[in-house]
Amino acid sequence: MEQIKIADTKKWTDKIKNLNNGKVKKYNIMTMGCQLNENDSEKIAGMLNDAGYEKTEKIEEADLIIFNTCCVRENAEDRLFGKLGEVKKYKEERGVIVAIGGCMMQEKHITQKIKESYKFVDILFGTHTLEQFPKDLYEAIKEKKKIEDILDVDGIVFEGVPVYREDKIKASVTIMNGCNNFCTYCIVPYVRGRERSRNPQDIINEVQTLAEQGYKEITLLGQNVNSYLVYQKQKGENVDFKVVVNSKEMVVNSFATLLTALDEIEGIERIRFISPHPKDFTDDVIDAIKNAKHVCKLIHLPLQSGSTKILKEMNRKYTKQDYLDLAKKIKEQIPEITFSTDIIVGFPGETEEDFEDTLDVVKQVKFEQVFMFIYSRRLGTVADKMDNQVPEDIKHKRFDKLKKLVEDEIEVQNKNYVGKEVEILVEGESKNNKNILTGRTESNKIVNFEGSKDLIGKLIKIKIVSDHMWYLYGIYDNI
Ligand code: SAH
Ligand code: SF4
Ligand code: F3S
Repeated sequence: MEQIKIADTKKWTDKIKNLNNGKVKKYNIMTMGCQLNENDSEKIAGMLNDAGYEKTEKIEEADLIIFNTCCVRENAEDRLFGKLGEVKKYKEERGVIVAIGGCMMQEKHITQKIKESYKFVDILFGTHTLEQFPKDLYEAIKEKKKIEDILDVDGIVFEGVPVYREDKIKASVTIMNGCNNFCTYCIVPYVRGRERSRNPQDIINEVQTLAEQGYKEITLLGQNVNSYLVYQKQKGENVDFKVVVNSKEMVVNSFATLLTALDEIEGIERIRFISPHPKDFTDDVIDAIKNAKHVCKLIHLPLQSGSTKILKEMNRKYTKQDYLDLAKKIKEQIPEITFSTDIIVGFPGETEEDFEDTLDVVKQVKFEQVFMFIYSRRLGTVADKMDNQVPEDIKHKRFDKLKKLVEDEIEVQNKNYVGKEVEILVEGESKNNKNILTGRTESNKIVNFEGSKDLIGKLIKIKIVSDHMWYLYGIYDNI
């Protein structure tokens, strides 16, 4: 049986409250990674709320400073060490508690470096011990000792950890943790453990609660969401879960059936998910998206490279043609579908010809959004040991070329929106201008417009009147 544990965070958060004598303490958290990492920060925030802490954006007034780290690319490390240098003075001046958690803490060479060079850090906690953070914090304050709470295990599913979300319209919900794919460039399987899926009823209950709280959009998170429950099935576990959603009995035994079940929840207008893996994109998932009323017709389908040779070296388990065929098949089934993707340039052994294949797929698929990354060597991965690393200047040249192509395509796409009416979910006030509201189309394009604040949280029709690189501008006319 899958190991599911109910976290006992309350016991420790109560103890911290007593220790602080009811005084409200402040914490500052820096989230450095992906949406899973952000969702973990929302859990840390949930636990700290219970412990009587209040969030502050001002690091200089915090009693507790937390870094929730990422290690997927090298720049994340540079950022952490830069910030730690800054924080040292707060430790010396005011004795703040400094805690570092997240993926980077699962790398021994990093924790070693912190213990040697940043001795003032109080707590190190890893990805498998997140729910023990209140216990670690309690011990660090009470016993004034250095805590290292890091496990090197496959992982357990924890339920019952409180989540505090700042956004009141859109919420992320982690449905599975870990990864079994071992793409040769990627550190994630080493720091997040093996795939483990949450029980579908727990996910349904969480989404139902979010709907009751007024949330309109949810994003299901996992490193490989379309292998939800697959690993349990491979291990011979019974994964036919009988669930109740909206008073209806259903069976959830796959990602497709989970989508179908969540689609039943009243009040949730939009369901998104990241990321599916092209190799696991089975027909039942396509059908589920097609038949669902609320699943957005935008699929984030990570390509990584357009070259079959490089894809093989990356251990992605599909070819250029497989990817193109899959995109075509989905488009035939669901004509209104759009795609977004992730691409890495400069993987070891990538030639100009390989890179041209990547550009070719970008031209053929016409993505709504492309997240582009320069290949970054990660210690312990297979690709790091490859001896045909691409020189930095070539990587950068290719990156710039890809970026130019993507931007040119997005410009054309955005122009096509002008004059059209689109449906958007209004998310709130624009960050830069309080008089402007902002929302997103189903295809995730940002749309800014003038309107009254009571539109926030509503799905409305907007006429697009002008296009810009990163957003569209529209007019709302409710008559
Ligand atoms: N599980 C997801 C994403 C994981 S990390 C997936 O498979 O799509 C997010 C993105 O970071 C990846 O899609 C990849 O494009 C990029 N990435 C991962 N490792 C990298 C590395 N070593 N160098 C550069 N980019 C990397
Ligand atoms: Fe990394 Fe590949 Fe797993 Fe995504 S699927 S997390 S890229 S190993
Ligand atoms: Fe980074 Fe960990 Fe996410 S390495 S990308 S924070 S899973």
